[in-house]
Amino acid sequence: MIRFEDVGKSYDGGQSFAVRHVSFQIAKGETLVLLGSSGSGKSTLLKMINGLIAPSHGAVTVRDRSGQQLQSVQMRRSIGYVSQGIALFPFMRVWENVALPLRLAGLPIEERKRKATEALRLVELPEGVEDRLPSELSGGQQQRVGVARALVTGTDILLMDEPFGALDAITRESLQAEVARLKEKLGVTIVFVTHDLFEALALADRIVVMHEGNMEQIGTADEMLHQPATDFVRELFEKPAKLLKVGGRA
Ligand SMILES: Nc1ncnc2c1ncn2[C@@H]1O[C@H](COP(=O)(O)OP(=O)(O)O)[C@@H](O)[C@H]1O
Ligand SMILES: [Mg+2]
Repeated sequence: MIRFEDVGKSYDGGQSFAVRHVSFQIAKGETLVLLGSSGSGKSTLLKMINGLIAPSHGAVTVRDRSGQQLQSVQMRRSIGYVSQGIALFPFMRVWENVALPLRLAGLPIEERKRKATEALRLVELPEGVEDRLPSELSGGQQQRVGVARALVTGTDILLMDEPFGALDAITRESLQAEVARLKEKLGVTIVFVTHDLFEALALADRIVVMHEGNMEQIGTADEMLHQPATDFVRELFEKPAKLLKVGGRA
């Protein structure tokens, strides 16, 4: 579904690289988490999937498209994207925010409102929110609106860049459960960026660990716990390994 082949990205004409020699594949319906600290290259990788960023070398292939084809507006709009932070238009009603991709696609207003309302139900927002303004919703509800907007076109790929970073722990957990539910219900391929190890463990089928632009390892949480490929991965997973041991004794 998505393939990176020896991908690198430099923002300064080759002096330094934000991402170096990254290769991996994501299967249809898989949830892949890009895990790493700030500046490790996660967002750069994510934005190469919907063509917001072009690789400096190597190839990114999405649904058998690559290169210039990935940079087309049509292609970009066919991939759901929830960016870092809340990005709703404050002066537009909730349903209009959700329907924005449909307006850009030229759908008539009745269809836009119907599909937007469907998408809002999909992310379990209660009836009546569609006519409100974003400021009249909680932070968690606003993020659900962002997810509804990313899904409204019926996409098969959902990209999420630290979407719940600004929320409290309880709200974040309920949104993580929501993502897991959407994956089961819709079968969408999800690429989820986070710096939070426990969020990665909660969501991932497989994890890509990024560190200073390098891919340290790709694998399941279990593989990283028991067969870390590098010292970095071993140290990163030491904490949950200890917690699991405590849990195992209890
Ligand atoms: N548009 C840009 N111009 C120049 N440097 C950038 C740009 N975007 C990201 N970078 C740099 O690339 C590196 C990786 O950034 P990023 O992919 O945003 O990491 P992350 O999402 O893991 O925090 C960082 O050193 C960052 O400063
Ligand atoms: Mg980022």
